[in-house]
Amino acid sequence: MSIDVVDIGAVPSAWTHRHLLDLESLSAEEINIILDSAVTFKEASAGCTQKLPILAGKTCANLFFENSTRTRTSFSLAARRLGADTIDFSSSSSSLSKGETFIDTAKNIEAMGIDAVIVRHRTPGTARLLAQNLNCSVINAGDGPHEHPTQGLLDILSIRERCGRIKGLTVALVGDIAHSRTARSNIWGLKKLGAHVILCGPSTLVSKEWEQLGVEVAYSLDEILPRCDVLNLLRIQFERQTTRPFPSVREYALLYAMNRERLARAKREILIMAPGPINRGVEITPDVADGPHSAILEQVTNGLAVRMAVLWLILGGGN
Ligand code: CP
Repeated sequence: MSIDVVDIGAVPSAWTHRHLLDLESLSAEEINIILDSAVTFKEASAGCTQKLPILAGKTCANLFFENSTRTRTSFSLAARRLGADTIDFSSSSSSLSKGETFIDTAKNIEAMGIDAVIVRHRTPGTARLLAQNLNCSVINAGDGPHEHPTQGLLDILSIRERCGRIKGLTVALVGDIAHSRTARSNIWGLKKLGAHVILCGPSTLVSKEWEQLGVEVAYSLDEILPRCDVLNLLRIQFERQTTRPFPSVREYALLYAMNRERLARAKREILIMAPGPINRGVEITPDVADGPHSAILEQVTNGLAVRMAVLWLILGGGN
């Protein structure tokens, strides 16, 4: 098999960021630069027959203080596909247990010659804190319920691929909005690109106050369903809840799960998404999760392309 070296070109001059901490602070133009770059990387790396050693000599460190399957793996793979070295830090086997602080831990990792840290932590603002304390680039891989920018970007890319646009679409985020960093990144990104965003779920998990961001708040999925072009079904984050926000999982599923019967009442081309991990039978039934309307695995594929684009934009321009 022949392997070609692909010329991606230069990082666009309109991209000036050293870090990716959130989507709230990005412009629509900057979001589109990431999405367009992701498409380029997706096409360029298709089939893995092409070499993209554009980050050779760079080193990325995964600092994950919460579990992850998709984000951690795809950031590692993205870095390696671009020729960078990667370090995987595991908090459970680290010297944190001996009393070392979070900042000291990060500074010691950085001292090994790291160009970018990719951080996930249960505390909102952790990525920004690291950006203020380290000299290297920082990418937020999820800070508590605050933001998960690359998840928002891969969701938006998946919508754009399937629907051909973002502007004018009605996108409902359904479920545990209160604890969802994915919801916040989707809200900022989708609003900036011109979508109408609906937040839908039980009143214990969806606050009316969110309307101040220019989104619609709804409590009945059945009422909004006929208007929706996209449903993004957010996982009920039992692990972050101190009290049960609804009487039973069965009742939640009855009111908010996307199932075959609801699919029949939705728009013919409705796109069904979920950031993963999914609770089968809670937010979504298996037949819908695995059916033709679902983009769940496409989202994962696009996550790799988005993370390649983000690493390239942040580390490839000599900032
Ligand atoms: N969607 C998401 O962030 O998945 P992981 O927790 O597996 O990274």
